[in-house]
Amino acid sequence: MTTEDAQPHTAGMALRFPLRSGRLLVRPFEETDAMAAHALYGDAEVMRYVGDGSAATPEQSAQMVEDYRRHQREHGFAFWAVIDRGTGELIGDAGLEVTRHGTEIGYTLARPWWGQGLATEAARLCVDAAFGALGLTRLVALVDAENPASARVLGKLGFHPDIDTDTEADLEAGRAGRREGTVIAYGRPHLRYVLVRPARVRPRS
Ligand SMILES: CC(C)(COP(=O)(O)OP(=O)(O)OC[C@H]1O[C@@H](n2cnc3c(N)ncnc32)[C@H](O)[C@@H]1OP(=O)(O)O)[C@@H](O)C(=O)NCCC(=O)NCCS
Repeated sequence: MTTEDAQPHTAGMALRFPLRSGRLLVRPFEETDAMAAHALYGDAEVMRYVGDGSAATPEQSAQMVEDYRRHQREHGFAFWAVIDRGTGELIGDAGLEVTRHGTEIGYTLARPWWGQGLATEAARLCVDAAFGALGLTRLVALVDAENPASARVLGKLGFHPDIDTDTEADLEAGRAGRREGTVIAYGRPHLRYVLVRPARVRPRS
């Protein structure tokens, strides 16, 4: 891991919400989203490869929303609410979180919205925000080795597997970035993916 990975703050500007794509709006979570968020985080099938792999209680879902709101205040970005533009319904989350692995991208959709390219569409908004207005230069993603759909989303966004990954013991001992292999997160093996901001094309002289 580079020093840059550990930097919690962005060098860029504040984002203007909502972020927009063809089918989606992406905006910071609000307190009133807790119930809609629980429809997502309370579903065991959705949560199988997220966090500790178990469905959240209503209180835990509300706490997750609160944690995202605090992260937004502290860093200017966070996991955000993904809204279906057609219906205004909250259908998932997507966003960025500062962890000891770097600035991580993540996304979670409710089951009815799987298989339509929406996670990729939401995550692309996050990547564009990260490398654009937020001024970040490197994103990481941790994917459960049993979750190929998520790995495919990352592949479509241009992420590539990072062979120089760290064990929990490495991170705790401050020896980040010195070993190859999978990362153990939440007690399970995860593959680490990386995306570096493309170099700007220089204008011809
Ligand atoms: C993983 C998840 C975000 C994918 O959302 P989605 O909107 O269905 O994703 P997209 O449609 O944008 O892309 C999925 C890709 O994976 C592919 N895919 C789906 N299941 C797959 C499988 N079992 N093996 C390989 N590829 C698979 C799809 O074909 C698609 O690729 P394609 O566009 O080349 O056909 C969604 O299933 C989800 O929310 N799961 C629960 C939460 C989660 O696991 N989040 C990720 C944590 S790291």
